[in-house]
Amino acid sequence: MTEAHLMTQATAPKPAKPHLPDAARVTQVTHWTDRLFSFRVERPQSLRFRSGEFVMIGLLDDLGKPLLRAYSIASPAWDEGLEFYSIKVPDGPLTSRLQHIGVGDEIILRPKPVGTLVHDALLPGKRIWFLATGTGIAPFASLMRDPETYEKYDQVIMMHTCREVAELEYGRQLVEALQDDPLIGEMVAGKLIYYPTTTREPFHHMGRVKDNLSSGKVFADLGLPPMDPAHDRAMVCGSLAFNVDVKAILESFGLREGANSDPKEYVVEKAFVGDGI
Ligand code: FAD
Ligand code: A2P
Repeated sequence: MTEAHLMTQATAPKPAKPHLPDAARVTQVTHWTDRLFSFRVERPQSLRFRSGEFVMIGLLDDLGKPLLRAYSIASPAWDEGLEFYSIKVPDGPLTSRLQHIGVGDEIILRPKPVGTLVHDALLPGKRIWFLATGTGIAPFASLMRDPETYEKYDQVIMMHTCREVAELEYGRQLVEALQDDPLIGEMVAGKLIYYPTTTREPFHHMGRVKDNLSSGKVFADLGLPPMDPAHDRAMVCGSLAFNVDVKAILESFGLREGANSDPKEYVVEKAFVGDGI
């Protein structure tokens, strides 16, 4: 080894400290539409979470203060990385910046996962319904990739509604990839039923989740009996209006809302706060 090399080693600076608090490095970014993107970050080794939970993530604002928002973790608990699926709100304080992140950039990730869309908050059942609009599919992107989901249920029905076909693409590709997944492809086969619909562009299935449940269309299309509190469980994630409407329908089938501390037949979480864009 040359003297120059030794000197280089001895004087080489230590790896630069992350300049963000609780920094996580971005490893992948995919833009799905002009309103939607997903990204992956390195997972801090100490971060443990239950599939379906959310964390606070963000960036520093112009004054150097953390600008944080709640985000569902879209990757399953076993994944070595962390995935997020995000809206781009044109004037949104966080997402107007976050949508420009690239590989190698850092985000802030507060390592305190919480949430109600977890298996522990539901009583055992035969079928589980994941009901989502827009980015509300994110917690189910995690749960659909978790083996526990298929250990606990005979059938897993993913209903996802968006305005346009392109907004379904993230979920469609995820479900397609699951069928061939070497880890859980066999568990998923024949159990995962994907029922995407649009409301503003022609598609083979159309209509709002609440309408397809209340009219019975989804049960007829899938050859399933109407929801029964003895067998059916549900998790709901969408806008406040969506959650309120879907809750009413689930209650009309006799399902009761549960919580981590009081498991019952369904659980709900807001996909965002506000009326939508
Ligand atoms: P904000 O000031 O936060 O929001 C501005 C307005 O944009 C809101 O009033 C609302 O009308 C609209 N809006 C915000 N988020 C959405 C959205 N996701 N879909 C449609 N309209 C929206 N967002 C995600 O993109 N992915 C997630 O996985 C996610 N998980 C969440 C989990 C929880 C428990 C909660 C409460 C929110 C979650 N959100 C998620 C919303 C997220 O926290 C932010 O609101 C979003 O990133 C926009 O941030 P912003 O600062 O740009 O705009
Ligand atoms: P619609 O096109 O009929 O409004 P958004 O893009 O506004 O967040 O909505 C995402 C999807 O959720 C859209 O397909 C929208 O249908 C649907 N949606 C909005 N509000 C409700 C609701 N209260 N109940 C069921 N679906 C809803």
